[in-house]
Amino acid sequence: MKPTAPAPCVLVVFGASGDLTRRKIIPALFDLFQRGQTPRGLAVLGVSRTEMSDDDFRQHLREWAERFATRFTEDGWARFARTIYYCAADATEPEAFEQISSDIDRASAEQDSGSNILFYLSVAPQLYERIIECINQSGLVTEGKRWCSINRDAAPWQRIIVEKPFGVDLRSAQSLNRALGRAFEEESIYRIDHYLGKELVQNLLVLRFANTIFEPLWNRRYIRDVQITAAEKVGVESRGAFYDHAGALRDMIQSHLMQVLALVAMEPPGRYADTHIRREKIKVTDCIRVVTPDEAPLRCAFGQYGSGPGGPGAYREGKGVAPDSTTETFAAIRLDIDNWRWSGVPFFLRTGKAMARKLTEVVLTFREPPIDLFTPICEGEPECVRRPPNRLIINIQPDEGISLRFEGKVPGAMRIDSIKLDFDYLARFGGEPIEAYGPLLLDAMRGDQTLFKHRDEVEGAWSAVMPFLDPGLRRGIAGNYPPGSWGPRESEDLLARSGCAWHNPSDEETR
Ligand SMILES: NC(=O)c1ccc[n+]([C@@H]2O[C@H](COP(=O)([O-])OP(=O)(O)OC[C@H]3O[C@@H](n4cnc5c(N)ncnc54)[C@H](OP(=O)(O)O)[C@@H]3O)[C@@H](O)[C@H]2O)c1
Repeated sequence: MKPTAPAPCVLVVFGASGDLTRRKIIPALFDLFQRGQTPRGLAVLGVSRTEMSDDDFRQHLREWAERFATRFTEDGWARFARTIYYCAADATEPEAFEQISSDIDRASAEQDSGSNILFYLSVAPQLYERIIECINQSGLVTEGKRWCSINRDAAPWQRIIVEKPFGVDLRSAQSLNRALGRAFEEESIYRIDHYLGKELVQNLLVLRFANTIFEPLWNRRYIRDVQITAAEKVGVESRGAFYDHAGALRDMIQSHLMQVLALVAMEPPGRYADTHIRREKIKVTDCIRVVTPDEAPLRCAFGQYGSGPGGPGAYREGKGVAPDSTTETFAAIRLDIDNWRWSGVPFFLRTGKAMARKLTEVVLTFREPPIDLFTPICEGEPECVRRPPNRLIINIQPDEGISLRFEGKVPGAMRIDSIKLDFDYLARFGGEPIEAYGPLLLDAMRGDQTLFKHRDEVEGAWSAVMPFLDPGLRRGIAGNYPPGSWGPRESEDLLARSGCAWHNPSDEETR
């Protein structure tokens, strides 16, 4: 699919005075504007309850753009700010939509945006359904159902971006999907996952499907296990009040890491098009085994960081955290994909706060050669051990890159050592890192859903993690791992039960 140009529209951001808008959405849009990548005719209308004029709002955003945008210039900001508008309204009140509609018209008329509208839900998740209902009642969504549109391309569109978290469990996610479905078609719903904006996740598709050397090995016959890790060095910082109701499983695994898993495990799509890619990802999610409550304890490990040197202080002592909290700051689970490609290959997903390193990576460990030719040769000599299996590491952040470990002969007597082929993404291709939100916003404006989640993916991911939400699995986890470590001992045990071990790189190792 050739990328189409992003279309002019009014971007209506609900939650305009909030953290996400000022720290991510506006700086990312401004950077795109500075690069000349935003569509001509783009207008931004911020909506929240705080009373502000357009100018107050622009002034409020300016300081954040200066701090968080990578290409801030006074002149650029002055031009960009003219495209920003504000509407003080309670978006959970249907009556407020008279004013919101009129401000959409005002912004559109001044910026020549036409009638396309891109809604962005950047408010607390408990407000999502109410606001969607109000949008539905307002009559702003006119697109109609695809099957009855005569000339769809000529009609204006209305789309909606929904922030994470998408539900707190399967039931709430289904309810939110139903609310969205009453107002919008699936192809107009953009469930955002900013992880998927990361370059290297997209590079995963290229690595797998633009090369022939990996794909023949990318299956149960050659791969022993797959590990997906997202580790943070910091604790929960100021997010204690939010985090204590979410936990690592909901915050990271159900959302981001399940998406990475789908990209690693999916079949090749027929075309590089959003519908094809999403269809393949859904098939993977459909094949993830839902474990029984009896199996769950053997397939997970939870932890909560305690106090320790150099750490942020025990999780339970953090601001906004209940003193007897059993919320996990570390989670590791084993999933199995019951299809022909992956049957029997464990997928381990792990995430944690206050860990040894900041790191997001995918590690594929290959099976050992069927016969060990070389260990008998060095028998009796020191360091004569069976060599480790081949390993492919895909670093998503930081130090984006790929490395492949294999064995080579040391010159002289027969001795074998590991060798690493290492590809550093920035060193090879250069370029500055781009905030993930920008490209995702452009995708929504051009109607490309490749990097957004389909309703079935979200519900499939929730089904897979539901057995691990049982509070009983978190009993006694308080302080069970020190800050700066790779998590609790139970996490190592989880892999050991399958004859595997985590890849825990040392400080010096990039990959
Ligand atoms: N912050 C992040 O880095 C981040 C990252 C990923 C996902 N998210 C998600 O993004 C969403 C927003 O997060 P946030 O951190 O920006 O929250 P936040 O700072 O609390 O902002 C919430 C915004 O909602 C507005 N609001 C509340 N009630 C409203 C109503 N009835 N009508 C209209 N506006 C209303 C608030 O402004 P008023 O009080 O003026 O109305 C405020 O602007 C959440 O779902 C969060 O989970 C945030």
